Amino acid sequence: MTANQGLKLVNLDDSGVDCAFRADVLAGLQQEPKAIPARWFYDETGSRLFEEITALPEYYPTRAETEILTDRSADFAQLIGPGKAVVEFGSGSSVKTPLLLHAIDPAAYVPLDISGDFLRAAAADLSTSFPGLPIYPVEADFTREVTLPDQVRDIPKLGFFPGSTIGNMVARTAVDLLRSMRATLGEGSQLLIGMDLIKDIAVLEAAYDDAAGVTAQFNLNLVRRINRELDGTIPLDALRHVARWNDDFARIEMHLEATRPISFEVSGHSFSLEQGETIHTENSHKFDLRSANMLLLAGGWTPLERWTDREGRFSLILADATLRRNAP
Ligand code: AVJ
Repeated sequence: MTANQGLKLVNLDDSGVDCAFRADVLAGLQQEPKAIPARWFYDETGSRLFEEITALPEYYPTRAETEILTDRSADFAQLIGPGKAVVEFGSGSSVKTPLLLHAIDPAAYVPLDISGDFLRAAAADLSTSFPGLPIYPVEADFTREVTLPDQVRDIPKLGFFPGSTIGNMVARTAVDLLRSMRATLGEGSQLLIGMDLIKDIAVLEAAYDDAAGVTAQFNLNLVRRINRELDGTIPLDALRHVARWNDDFARIEMHLEATRPISFEVSGHSFSLEQGETIHTENSHKFDLRSANMLLLAGGWTPLERWTDREGRFSLILADATLRRNAP
C-alpha cells in the first residue's frame, strides 16, 4: 500500500481497546522468550517519562546529538544546502528540529507521525519559531511508504531521523524501514540519521538503568498500561526493571524480570512467569562506523559524512539515495 490517505491508523474495538496493542501483547506473552514491542511504551505517561529520561545525567544520547546539531551547522549548510523539504520521521522534538532548520534554511517541513496529537503539537510549536516556513504535517505510519503532500513533490528531500530510534529495531526491521524511507523520499534524496555508538558497558547500562529510577518507571509503565487498557492483573510489585548489554548483538536490552513465580490474566487469557523469567521490552542497538555504514547500505543509503560529539559517544550520519556501484 503506497497511499496513506484514508488509511485507518488506530483501530479500536467496540470497547475502545487498541486492537494492535492487544494483538501484540497477547502474541508476545504467548511466545518464548516473552517479548512486547517497544513502540507500546509511548502512551501519554510513557512519552512524558521518556522526556524525563532525556534530561537524566546518565542518559547522554540526547545531549550528545544536540551538541552535534549545534556545533556542525556550517557543515549541514554546506552538504545539505538550502531549499530542501525536510521530512521528519516521528514528530519533531522541540529542541533538535529547530537546530537543523536554522542551519539549512529549508523550503518546507513535513513531519510524519502515527499520532495526530503529537503531530499537531509539534507543527504548532515550529510554526511559531519559523513563521515563513510552510509546514505540511502528515498522519502516517512511516514504516510503510508514505505519499508526501503534492506541495513538496518537486522539491529535493532531506529525511531526518534523529534519536537513534533506528537502534530500537532488529537489523531486518531496520533495513525494511530504511528502504521504506527511500521509497517515500525518492531517488537522489538525502537522509540525516542519528545512531548511538558502542562504548563502555558500564556507561551504556547506566544510561538505561539510572539512579533516580526513571527508566525503571518507563519500563514498568508498559505493565500499568496493559493492566489498565487490556484488563490485566499483572502484579507490578513482582517485576523488576533490568537493563543489560547483549554483546553478540551489540545492544542494550530492557527486560521486566519476575522476582517470584506469578500468574496473571490479560484480556481474559492466562499467563505465568517463573521466578527469574523476563518479558523483553526493548532493544537499543549500538553501532560502530562499519556496522552503521553496513546497515545504511543494506537499506539503500550511501553514507556521505559522519559527525560525532566531542566525547565520541553518538553519531549523526548524512547519507544519500544515489546508487553508486563501486564493485561488479
Ligand atoms: C527512543 C531510541 C531514543 O533506545 O535510547 C530510552 C528509548 N529507552 N531509555 C533509546 C529509551 C530507554 C530510546 N530511543
